[in-house]
Amino acid sequence: MGFYSEDIISEIRSSTDIVEIISQYVSLQKRGDSYVGLCPFHSEKTPSFYVSPEKQLFYCFGCGAGGNVFTFLMKKENLKFPEAVRLLADRLNITLPSSEYDKNVSQAFRQKREQLRLNKMAQDYYHNILLNTKEGIRGLEYLKKRGITLETVERFRLGYAPPLWDGLIRHFRSMGVDLETLVKIGLAIAKKNGKGFYDRFRDRIMFPIEDATKNVIGFGGRIIGPGEPKYLNSPESPVFSKGENLYAISAIKKNPEMEIIVVEGYMDCISLHQSGFTQTVASLGTALTRMQAKLLKNYTGSVILAYDTDSAGQAATLRGMEILAKEGLNVKVLRLPEAKDPDEFIRKKGAEALRQQLSEALYHIDYKLYLAKKGVDIAAPAGKIKYIKMALKILSEIGNEVEREVYIQKVASELNIPVKALKDEIKKNRFPDNGLKYKKSPRRDNNKEFSKILPVTGAYKAERMIIKLLIENEEARQKVVENLVPSNFLNEKTRKIADLLFEMIRSKKDVKANEVFDHLDQDTSSELSGILMANLDFQGEGMIDSLIEKIKENYLKHAINQVRAQIQKAEAVGEREETTILLNTYQKLKSQMNELKATRNAEKGGV
Ligand code: GTP
Ligand code: MN
Repeated sequence: MGFYSEDIISEIRSSTDIVEIISQYVSLQKRGDSYVGLCPFHSEKTPSFYVSPEKQLFYCFGCGAGGNVFTFLMKKENLKFPEAVRLLADRLNITLPSSEYDKNVSQAFRQKREQLRLNKMAQDYYHNILLNTKEGIRGLEYLKKRGITLETVERFRLGYAPPLWDGLIRHFRSMGVDLETLVKIGLAIAKKNGKGFYDRFRDRIMFPIEDATKNVIGFGGRIIGPGEPKYLNSPESPVFSKGENLYAISAIKKNPEMEIIVVEGYMDCISLHQSGFTQTVASLGTALTRMQAKLLKNYTGSVILAYDTDSAGQAATLRGMEILAKEGLNVKVLRLPEAKDPDEFIRKKGAEALRQQLSEALYHIDYKLYLAKKGVDIAAPAGKIKYIKMALKILSEIGNEVEREVYIQKVASELNIPVKALKDEIKKNRFPDNGLKYKKSPRRDNNKEFSKILPVTGAYKAERMIIKLLIENEEARQKVVENLVPSNFLNEKTRKIADLLFEMIRSKKDVKANEVFDHLDQDTSSELSGILMANLDFQGEGMIDSLIEKIKENYLKHAINQVRAQIQKAEAVGEREETTILLNTYQKLKSQMNELKATRNAEKGGV
């Protein structure tokens, strides 16, 4: 390791809160001294992913992933250690020596950073054109006509791409930027004849798209006035993946109690923000994806879908609902009478009317039933039967048993028919594979998991306990270092950790667990995290002695067996000299073992 100086790394580490960083990826809830959430590294329904603010580490009791803040970013963002350092340094505005940086950061990562930098520069360029140039007046007037205020323009850093083939390109060229990179992020397009480039976005209102951490990852550009296509978006690029992002997600405050409104369009989104609905995001004009649902879940438990009211919007609502509900979000659907989209609604009827509609948003199952009932006369028998058929399908698709029960009752009383009649029909209707859907996942008791954390018995358990003591118990340190060497640890991971700790102790350095992580591979980090998260009943000095003994004994047993096997081999091939040396070693090990046993017996007998 040692790419960056320990000073810089510890500055970054001490200015970072692991809970804050991990919260950007995982929805965490406080539980006792820790935070818990669903593990981002394996699929689970019950949270077993723990983050300890005190120890500044994470650990998953389900899959065993663990480590410190750097380990987390390495795993989650697929980075190498220096890249994770760089990422955090950037977020904290800590300047790293650039020569060190250039040496150690992978090509791909460096390119990605450059792409983000250029996107940010393009955002500034378009924004400046809109606000401070003659060409920009056309854009400002359009926005004004649409009721967008200057404050909103500022808040979303809206911009204007001038009606030129090379406005942006010239700007960037003057700054010495590599135009090929502009092509990669879709701001420029290479001419077919291979001679030069032209601007992708021309004469358009520019909506910069940010990710959760405020990187500018792409743009949407709206044509001014009629024309095709109405919106032009940045193409997929190393930094922009439409299906993984939501427009305005960087403006959202995390609050599990607060509903997030999901709209279709950029305009809907900024218009709602402008009217005070600041918990609004837009799904970038595509069908909602599972990744977007997961992203939302980091911010809230409840979502209101507010798509356009046309048939495309309705279809997108039905698909989106399922995806959101499947991720465990509480989903409601907004209805907008006499408007084609939320923007139009608010402009026609005002914020108060929208607030009212939002409070009457339908829970997704109610919304489906509402659609089924629309235009059907349930007072007439034929209408009633038609509705029942559709309702049965909706009811049978409800995965949650309690929910299904509640809605069966509701429909039954609404139509004034017996619950049993509905249930019998549902049973008949149910798809054969539905049984799987309702299977309950085995319940996990997290407290139990805590106590079974050191599940291994014997020497391995002792090794883990000693590691924990080395880090957490200063008195144990000296004793352990005097009586053991790292090679006594037979488990590969605990041995690696011991190696580092012994080295730190010997060089009289402070033992800081969080520093140890920086020198470990991922598996070993996970191991250390698990060890540190475990509860350990420290039972005084006697315990240290018996742990040391246990490790030694196990080591000797193992070594004796190994040497014995080697002796047999050497004898078989007639290696006399070799055999003699091995026999010597064997004797030494044996006598050490006897000594150990004698001490133990003396102790036992003595007390
Ligand atoms: P206004 O019509 O200006 O109010 O914009 P809007 O944001 O309401 O747009 P609309 O409802 O037409 O579309 C919703 C979203 O779908 C837009 O914000 C875009 O993200 C996307 N979209 C719309 N038209 C196009 C298009 O022609 N091409 C692409 N790629 N996306 C589009
Ligand atoms: Mn719209």
